[in-house]
Parts: sequence; structure tokens; C-alpha cells
Amino acid sequence: MVRFFITGGNPLRGTVRASGSKNATLPILAACLLQGAPNVIQQVPALKDVTTMCDVLEYLGARVNREGDSIRVDATHIQSLEVGEDLMRRMRASNLVLGPLLGRFRRVRISHPGGCNIGSRPMNLHLKGLKALGARIEEKFGYITVEAGKLEGAEIHLDVPSVGATENIMMAAVLARGTTIIRNAAKEPEIVDLQNFLNRMGARIKGAGTDVIRIEGVKHLNSVEHAVIPDRIEAGTYLVAAAITGGDVTVTNVIPEHLEPVLAKLKEMGFLVETGDEHVRVAAQDRRPRAVDIKTLPHPGFPTDMQPQMMALACLAEGTSVITETVFENRFKHVSELRRMGADIKVEGQIAIIKGVERLTGAPVMATDLRAGAALVLAALAAENGTVVEGVEHIDRGYEKMEQKYTALGARIMRIST
Ligand code: EPU
Repeated sequence: MVRFFITGGNPLRGTVRASGSKNATLPILAACLLQGAPNVIQQVPALKDVTTMCDVLEYLGARVNREGDSIRVDATHIQSLEVGEDLMRRMRASNLVLGPLLGRFRRVRISHPGGCNIGSRPMNLHLKGLKALGARIEEKFGYITVEAGKLEGAEIHLDVPSVGATENIMMAAVLARGTTIIRNAAKEPEIVDLQNFLNRMGARIKGAGTDVIRIEGVKHLNSVEHAVIPDRIEAGTYLVAAAITGGDVTVTNVIPEHLEPVLAKLKEMGFLVETGDEHVRVAAQDRRPRAVDIKTLPHPGFPTDMQPQMMALACLAEGTSVITETVFENRFKHVSELRRMGADIKVEGQIAIIKGVERLTGAPVMATDLRAGAALVLAALAAENGTVVEGVEHIDRGYEKMEQKYTALGARIMRIST
């Protein structure tokens, strides 16, 4: 059991560097399975989810070596085409092996990922896309088996712009015969990074970042080196930390355009926002933040992965904020914990109505998932007296050295493992 003890009340000040993006790293590591030569991935964050993806690759037979923030993956010898229940339960994103293994070996079997703490998260769009490329799908005894004699390019329309489905289809289509077109594709920056990585390997993909992605199948891929993009959600979380504590924080190693939807809301709330080529600064002004309305949407809309953190901030705003979660059906688990800290929040279906209060007070709270955990830490940094946040294991999945980064900004936060 890992907990944070946090004594709130210090305005955070200073500069913090964002790490490489978790959600860009995971598909890029999986994409290394597409070919039998080593690749080197740089700026990889030291996170539990990254370790799990490395465990998946090693389980399948790849050689994985980590040195500092670089990971070398050599997938020349693959011994297994199956990911079992244990690895799938540890991390849903293990399902990202579907596309590359199908593309290279024409067969893959994974334990069904099932639902999780934030929603039911079906796999139908991943499977629909792979089927359109010519794969046969069997779902039996808790496993999904995907096989294909040959893969042929196809036109695929996604009902919703799923990030994971777009990534799996892109990876499978790279080695298919002919052209694949994905319509209503996800447009997240992590999709663009995957396209850049695959193209560097020799793939022919265009359009990532728009809602139509075109993949011309190729026969061979080469080994490459690639540095993943900075983590926009981690950066956004530290900027909200500046805002919620009444501080002044600059986050470096960011691509400011990736943070636009978050920065727009921080400005609307009355914070000073400054952007440079590779940094963003957020500073509190001498008044309480104003309430905002937020609706989560696929990129370039407001990211669901920043919703809990912005809710923590809205708890202390002047007036009533309305937050609508449209991406995941169960992403309000932080609400009951924020209430324990004195927040005034009412939930009706997918809508949370937050009446700002003047102060939050420390309480024992439980992180139920990664971003809920990040939100509780933010609330604790702003709260009067001490807070114990349990479930830090969830936070470790997606934030590199969180307590060290906060401490460097002047926070009082301690990790206790029992
Ligand atoms: N969906 C379907 N069918 C599918 C796939 C998705 O209905 O076949 C639905 C989902 O149920 C959900 C919506 O589509 O309601 C969006 O899900 P998406 O597939 O886009 O999400 P994901 O690929 O599973 C990634 C990130 C999440 C992030 C979402 C949305 C990774 C490894 N994970 O998940 O990150 O919230 O996109 O942006 O990239 C996090 O980092 O905390 C996190 C949860």
C-alpha cells in the first residue's frame, strides 16, 4: 500500500520539466513488434504502465533494454502471439499488440480487456477495423483471437474516434496489401507521434491529426530511433497545481498547442497564461478563480484525462461550474472523495455541478484511477491541514516522480509505503 501525506497551503512556484508522453510511448513500444530489427525509443517516462508494456513485449519474446530514458526493443525473435489475463488486467493498453502482431504474423490472441474503473470500454471498433482488413475474429472463453490469411487495405469508418482503435488499425494496415483509409479517426497528438514513428520505420501514412488517415501498405520496415512527444496531461496537471495553490509555475518540454483546450479554460478562470516555443507558464492573480463550464470531447476538444484535475480547481472557484463528461461513462469517482474534503458537488448522470467553496480541508481519500488520483493530490496541495491520499499505485502508472516534482516546486508531500 502506497500513500501520500500532503500538507497543503503552499503556493507552488518554479519550473518543472514534463516527461515523455505515456500515451504516446505505449503504442510506439507495441509498434516495435511490427518488425524483426531493433528500435530505440527515447524520452520514455519511468512509469508503471511503461514497465508493463515492456513486460508484455518480453513475454512475447522481444528483448527489451532500458538505459536512462531510452528503451531498445529488439523483436526479432517472437515466441508467443498471446497476451494472457494477468498482463491484460495489469494494463488495458496491452491490447495495443493486436494491430502489430496481426500485421506481422497474421495471428494474435489476447485475454479480453473487459471494463475498468472509468467505463465499460468495449473493443468493438478495434475488431471492426481489423475485420475490414480481412481478419477473422473469435471471442470465446474470455479471449479474443484474430487471424488473417492475408490483410488487404480497406475503408473503415469509426463510429466514435477511438484512440486505441485508430492506433491498432494503423499498425495492422502498415503491412497490409493496398491502401487503408480510416475515417472519423482519433486526432490526438499521440496518433501523430505514432504516424511519425511508423513513417520513420518506412511506413507510408498520411493524415494523422485530421479525421482521415490514409495508410499505403509496405513490405518492409527498418529499425529507427525516435523520441516521444512530451506528456500534455502531465504538463496540464502541473499547470493546474500552480492555479489551485495560487502559485506561479512554468512547465518546460511542452508543445503548447497540445495544451490549448486546457489553457483556454485556465484563462477563462482568470489565470495568467504565457506560452513560449517549448514552455507554458500559469500564474494566479490576486483573486479567486471564476467558475467555468467544461465538456470533455475527443481532441481537439477538452481532454477527459484533465477533467478530474479541473474539477478539483473548480471546487475553489467563485460561482457554479458545470462539467460534462462525454468520453467515459464512469469518470466521476473522484467526486465522493472531493466531497470528503469539503467540496460541494452534485452529479446528475454525466453532468457534475460544482458550487465553489472558499476552502477545502484535508481528509483521508482514496485514488480509484490515475487521473482521479492526480485530482486528489491537487486538492490536497490547496487544502488546509493534512491529507492522506491512498491508492498512489494508480498515480505511479502515469506520473513520473510526482512527489519529487511537487517538492521541487515547494510542496510538502511525502510518500509512505507499507
Ligand atoms: N470505444 C468504443 N469502442 C471501442 C473503443 C472505444 O465504444 O472499440 C469508446 C470507449 O468506451 C470510450 C471512447 O470510445 O467511451 C473513447 O475511448 P478510446 O478508445 O479513445 O480510449 P482508449 O484508447 O482506450 C486512450 C488513453 C486514455 C484516454 C482516452 C481518451 C491510452 C493508453 N489511453 O484510451 O488515457 O482517456 O484515450 O482520450 O492512450 C489516461 O491516460 O488516464 C487514460 C485513461
